[in-house]
Amino acid sequence: MNIKILKNTAAAILAPQKGILAADESAPTCAKRFASAGVPCTEETRREYRELLLTTPDIEKYLSGVILFDETIRQKTKDGLPFPEALIKKGIIPGIKVDAGAKELALHPGEKVTEGLDGLRERLAEYKALGARFAKWRAVITIGPNIPSQACISTNAHALARYSALCQEADIVPIVEPEVLIDGDHTIEQSYEASQAILKNLFRELADQNVALEGTILKASMVISGKESKKQASREEVAQATIKCLKENLPKNLAGVVFLSGGQSDEQATEHLNLINKIGKVPWRLTFSYARAIQNPVLKLWAAKKIELAKQVYLFRAKANALASAGIYDPSSEKNRPY
Ligand code: 13P
Repeated sequence: MNIKILKNTAAAILAPQKGILAADESAPTCAKRFASAGVPCTEETRREYRELLLTTPDIEKYLSGVILFDETIRQKTKDGLPFPEALIKKGIIPGIKVDAGAKELALHPGEKVTEGLDGLRERLAEYKALGARFAKWRAVITIGPNIPSQACISTNAHALARYSALCQEADIVPIVEPEVLIDGDHTIEQSYEASQAILKNLFRELADQNVALEGTILKASMVISGKESKKQASREEVAQATIKCLKENLPKNLAGVVFLSGGQSDEQATEHLNLINKIGKVPWRLTFSYARAIQNPVLKLWAAKKIELAKQVYLFRAKANALASAGIYDPSSEKNRPY
């Protein structure tokens, strides 16, 4: 493990007024998203759509990194340039999703554990040769009656820590993502409790595995009411609760934090990030690593073959989130958005 390499990569990912595009949907997830936009999902349509995401001119002003999927890191632009090289040419760092997905947790109905540790050392070596400098592993925590269980919390935290150690051994920055799902009718207080439980366990496990936090990025969920909750917390309450949770549970020497959008609307995800950065006086950089909150309107326009407009909308959302990562996004700018 070369801590200097890890720190430099993490610092580049966490550059001011930039963030990450998550474009690492697995083929089945991509199929769902394409179906909702009414387009067939084939290796070629996925390639075409991802080419737009990776090569739109000026997107490098707002993105420091892009997370790719196993298929995508091996694909090329129509001119034959491998996707990771197309990103590197723009100064964007290629990343890779390395987990094998969340599977049913045995004896724990309704809960999941993320798999993918077997053979990970070898896969990391291959991804590194293909250009990846950071990685992502997503654990899923569901809130419901009597869940999350301690079994779900500890097995997922343990797997995240073992994945991180393997990444750092290969000088790849691990992004650790314990996603607390927004699905359900839970309150913001329940979201806080579940977030706190997984974060406490995660940092204990990372310490046990000798993972260097200066070379580790947390991909966090915002602390937020469940989608079906009758009592929806205000945007300020979400920002305040999220900041409090980070302050109380994150070690100071962590490299930084990126948020997932988790099913929030695009504009809501931007405004929450903005408020968090406006209010929060924290020792870490807090930016975005969004998939849906950036891609949703882009995918629809691409599917409708409105390619130039799709690019404009993509730049608009990426810029809005880049500004929000500095707390200087103006919500009234949405009035002029190109969609
Ligand atoms: P969303 O922003 O759509 O939640 O996706 C982020 C991500 O990478 C989930 O693993």
